[in-house]
Amino acid sequence: MSINNRFVKFDKRPAGAPTPDVFSVQSQKLRAIKDGEFLMRNIYLSMDPALVGRMRDEDNYAEKVNPGEVMHAYGVCQVVESNNPKVKVGEVRMGRVDMQQYTISSDDDAFKKINQGLAKATHFLGAVGLTGVTAYFAMREIAQPKAGETVLISAGASSVGSIAAQIAQLNNCRTVAIVSTDEKAAQVKQDWGYDAAISYRGKSIEQLSQDIKKACPKGIDVYFDNTSGDISEAVMDHYNVGARVAVVGRLAISHLTDTRLDTGRRDSNIMLTKRVKRQGFVILDYQKKIKGAIIQLALWIKQGKLKSKEDILIGIENAPDAFFRMLDGKNNGKQLVKLADIDDSINPDSSFAGRMILSKWFPSNFLIKKLS
Ligand SMILES: NC(=O)c1ccc[n+]([C@@H]2O[C@H](COP(=O)([O-])OP(=O)(O)OC[C@H]3O[C@@H](n4cnc5c(N)ncnc54)[C@H](OP(=O)(O)O)[C@@H]3O)[C@@H](O)[C@H]2O)c1
Repeated sequence: MSINNRFVKFDKRPAGAPTPDVFSVQSQKLRAIKDGEFLMRNIYLSMDPALVGRMRDEDNYAEKVNPGEVMHAYGVCQVVESNNPKVKVGEVRMGRVDMQQYTISSDDDAFKKINQGLAKATHFLGAVGLTGVTAYFAMREIAQPKAGETVLISAGASSVGSIAAQIAQLNNCRTVAIVSTDEKAAQVKQDWGYDAAISYRGKSIEQLSQDIKKACPKGIDVYFDNTSGDISEAVMDHYNVGARVAVVGRLAISHLTDTRLDTGRRDSNIMLTKRVKRQGFVILDYQKKIKGAIIQLALWIKQGKLKSKEDILIGIENAPDAFFRMLDGKNNGKQLVKLADIDDSINPDSSFAGRMILSKWFPSNFLIKKLS
């Protein structure tokens, strides 16, 4: 079979924040698959902020992408050809497929089967995917919000932030978002039920700090830090005694060529006097518990306790645009790129187990506890 594979090539490392000239869209004939390999048609690509970190020539928890390679990206895919006995044609899987229409692999473990009885395919890149489980474990293991506490979330409109907020609300907390603009602040209160929301763009650290004080009159018990940088410096003076800080992302500094050179006010005095606990979070540490989190998130969605939104562009040629939309904060929901439809005529129906787990009579809480 002669297939033309269109892909987004990573041409060069950005000097600062990524610019459109770091990418070019190209195409190449696919080679035949070898013994043990399988070919996947990519269905959805996920545009994640962590891709910026992969562009830097710096050690990170994720593998870096090198100039000349296909740009990295996670996605949902469908197997269309297989010379691997563990992988069947038609299966819908997810993994690091990269920004391209087709992916060849021999590693069945790197592309996990998804169960569409638990949630729809796009949710596996959002609310029940890496973003959902990141919010779930960072909240459960580090932030540990308690009823009546104030939970402040930077990048509050992001997929991770919006799910973290809803989890805090399920724990009866007061939730406050920091987002780029006043329009977005009004929107996140409506979309995600935040009690208050403030904007950061164009404000000095002192101005933002004043706004945080007004939005959090009883101080901050939990700071869910998606940004780092100036935003986190503005948060610093408002911790209550015993506050917890989950350091989840570095959106505000990830464009620096060397993030170690980020400077700011020292916080030892605040950490000491307020007995603040701050811990970095990387989802890779929770791999063994992920199944339980996925079931819990899927159950909350089914019960109407958790909402999610998606913003989908169509076609591989629009993947660079989708990437920059996400970085500019223009996305309205999890930013995805759709490349193809799932071919249901070859899709083996594996949804039964998922539907059963979510059914009313199934002891799903027991299973969630056991698995997570
Ligand atoms: N540690 C882990 O294991 C892990 C796993 C997954 C995700 N994460 C992190 O979680 C965070 C959210 O990820 P996501 O996938 O949910 O994001 P997302 O839905 O794609 O949202 C990205 C949002 O980030 C904001 N943003 C972009 N550039 C910014 C900047 N320079 N300063 C401040 N805000 C900026 C924008 O909102 P505004 O318009 O409001 O600025 C944008 O809408 C990221 O930091 C990501 O790296 C961490």
